[in-house]
Amino acid sequence: MRATALRTLRSTTSSSITCNPARAFSISVPRSFAQPTDGAPPAGKAPQIKEFKIYRWNPDTPAEKPKLQSYKVDLSQCGPMMLDALIKIKNELDPTLTFRRSCREGICGSCAMNIDGVNTLACLCRIEKDASKPSKVYPLPHMYIVKDLVPDLTLFYKQYKSIEPFLKNDNPPAKGEFLQTQEERKKLDGMYECILCACCSTSCPSYWWNADQYLGPAVLMQAYRWMADSRDSYGAQRKEKMQNSMSLYRCHTIFNCSRTCPKGLNPALAISKMKYEMALDK
Ligand code: SF4
Ligand code: SF4
Ligand code: FES
Repeated sequence: MRATALRTLRSTTSSSITCNPARAFSISVPRSFAQPTDGAPPAGKAPQIKEFKIYRWNPDTPAEKPKLQSYKVDLSQCGPMMLDALIKIKNELDPTLTFRRSCREGICGSCAMNIDGVNTLACLCRIEKDASKPSKVYPLPHMYIVKDLVPDLTLFYKQYKSIEPFLKNDNPPAKGEFLQTQEERKKLDGMYECILCACCSTSCPSYWWNADQYLGPAVLMQAYRWMADSRDSYGAQRKEKMQNSMSLYRCHTIFNCSRTCPKGLNPALAISKMKYEMALDK
């Protein structure tokens, strides 16, 4: 089916977008996730109907083009976040709508998607209260699509695996644990918090055009996270793997990645530090 999978419409994003927020399919949803569902607005609250236009594509009908499907939701009966609206739509209007979610609190990275032109996490993204403006929801841009809002992250995870994201040390301490100074530990701050949601990589123009060879900001930041770790003794080898024109140097410091990260991280800074250190090593 991958052969027939579609790239998300380029019109959903452009180089001028402010790119800001996957794993288990959304199948059944606990009632408590969606806010009041008894059919009537809570006392004193008037209905507030908002339109959501959501990208749909079904691999079972590959001849049919992707489309935006419209749903109307009463915000007075819905939680405040975009994920609340998606869950309400799936629960009450259309069980075929497919998206990923798990933690509902910005930890798992599953609900990454493009909301109103911004890559972000649906569970951390507040619904725009202006009911006169429809909200548009697309999958992460420039990815193959599995179904509806679910992108195929196979390549992303393969690239993550390629940087060997684990501690490598040929001479571990004879007894006990690896010790670090506070300064050494501090170097990992701002990198270990990454939840691998792929919002940054899929906002990066260089990654859009060269994803087959360029590692992209999320994976590069994790590559640097292990180079910067005082307990790892494979820094030189890790840097050597980046010494080619594509893996790292396709980053042109456009900064979409840092603008879009829903966790407030700065992959572009990590990439710059890696380039700087590699230049000093030469
Ligand atoms: S750096 Fe931010 S946007 Fe990129 S994968 Fe990590 S958490 Fe997601
Ligand atoms: S700074 Fe580099 S990684 Fe980040 S968006 Fe720009 S080109 Fe991509
Ligand atoms: S559901 Fe886990 S980050 Fe949104």
